[in-house]
Amino acid sequence: MEHPEIDGGEYRRVFGRVPTAVSIVTAMDGDQPVAMVIGSFGSVSMDPPLVQFMPGKSSESWKRMSGAGSFCVNVLGDDQVDLSNSFFVKDVDPFTACTWDTAVTGAPRIEGCAAWIDCVTHEVVDAGDHWLILGRIVGLDGDSDRAPLVFLGGSYGSFEAH
Ligand SMILES: Cc1cc2nc3c(=O)[nH]c(=O)nc-3n(C[C@H](O)[C@H](O)[C@H](O)COP(=O)(O)O)c2cc1C
Repeated sequence: MEHPEIDGGEYRRVFGRVPTAVSIVTAMDGDQPVAMVIGSFGSVSMDPPLVQFMPGKSSESWKRMSGAGSFCVNVLGDDQVDLSNSFFVKDVDPFTACTWDTAVTGAPRIEGCAAWIDCVTHEVVDAGDHWLILGRIVGLDGDSDRAPLVFLGGSYGSFEAH
């Protein structure tokens, strides 16, 4: 089948109907913590235990993070919108706006999150204008009492069960 032309505005409009979690993916660049806000995080495989996220190829943050060979996915709670904004805007060092320690891989682990998934980089796959990063889980934890932050159509929100 021929590949039909997909309009960029239509792509954005349709994916504005698809909710994502909001995570801060962290890694060390030498002795400097680096991070990016990520909506493309998801589980992939239980055996072996793999997860994925997709940084854009033009991401300056990912260029700095990729050398570490490991990363920690900090899945934000729904009370952490300000934290998401501080890591997105980066006008001051966002790591000073939160309390964090170091996961087993050496990647920063941010306090107060809904979940943490600590990974070594398993594979980097070329995926159009993004990289598909597969991580092999070396440690994970979650706070069952904390609801995750949700992003939909350009807005933050909370999950509510039916
Ligand atoms: C809710 C939310 C989700 C995002 N998800 C992604 C993502 O999955 N992949 C990505 O490359 N950028 C994503 N971004 C944008 C990055 O956080 C960042 O702005 C982008 O990588 C450019 O900054 P940089 O050059 O410093 O990396 C997201 C931003 C927000 C606010």
